[in-house]
Amino acid sequence: MHDDPRLSELVAQVRSSRKYGAISEQLVRRIGAAELNKRATLKDAVKATKNALHQVAGLYFASERPAYEVWLRQIVRAGDDATRRAVLRSIMTHHASTRERLPILDAFYARVLAGLGPLRSVLDLACGLNPLSLPWMPLAPGATYHAVDIYEDLARFLQAALAALGVTGSAEARDIIADCPTDEADVALLLKALPCLEQLDRASGLAILDTINARYVIVSFPTRTVGGRNIGMREHYAARFEAMIAHRPWRVERIEFTGELVYRIAK
Ligand SMILES: C[S@@+](CC[C@H](N)C(=O)[O-])C[C@H]1O[C@@H](n2cnc3c(N)ncnc32)[C@H](O)[C@@H]1O
Repeated sequence: MHDDPRLSELVAQVRSSRKYGAISEQLVRRIGAAELNKRATLKDAVKATKNALHQVAGLYFASERPAYEVWLRQIVRAGDDATRRAVLRSIMTHHASTRERLPILDAFYARVLAGLGPLRSVLDLACGLNPLSLPWMPLAPGATYHAVDIYEDLARFLQAALAALGVTGSAEARDIIADCPTDEADVALLLKALPCLEQLDRASGLAILDTINARYVIVSFPTRTVGGRNIGMREHYAARFEAMIAHRPWRVERIEFTGELVYRIAK
């Protein structure tokens, strides 16, 4: 494939910034190509690409430089289960979306994954720091975990964290709109991700749900803004999602939590 020099320049500029440097090149390229078609200048396209990346990913991180090495050492050093859980909770406060779930974490997976039979494999898509909630998930002994988000440094951290937690698994940086995993899994998590993904591509939500090769898919939506406001999001997301999947032959159960609306789909 021949390369558009303006696109290569845009990708290089976006990836040279601290905040966007670790984002998968595949995603930067795809957004950048669309912005180059829409904008008058390269400078405007770079700015618009960074803006889109902020909206779908950057805004969730508490810092432009997550302290992955420090966090990993904390996980490795945590001795007993209670200390380890406390450490994991404190690390999870650094991703806005994962943090919002902490007050309901004890009940969340116990309810959402209840009664699904032994869960031996999990696919966590657009995962943020959620894989660190693994100890709260009622999985079968020896279950495998595969985590996907768009940051290469996050993927390296999660890969090492899974090993430190004694879990067989992997983590990778991948744009799930362009390249959704098709690996078989007992359960796939797509938590609070559809609104972000659909900002980039309105049709991507249903396409991803169709592609996921899991017995159960857990889809959720935030019901408050990142700033904590309640502006009718529950009703809005529920109406749109229920209409979107109305013609799929799936069994769907709706589960409500404070701050999060969950759909449990049996495919
Ligand atoms: C609202 S957060 C949800 C995080 C996590 N699922 C949770 O609920 O704790 C959305 C996540 O989607 C990721 N993301 C955005 N676009 C993506 C894409 N095209 N492919 C994979 N992940 C993406 C972001 O980096 C971010 O971590």
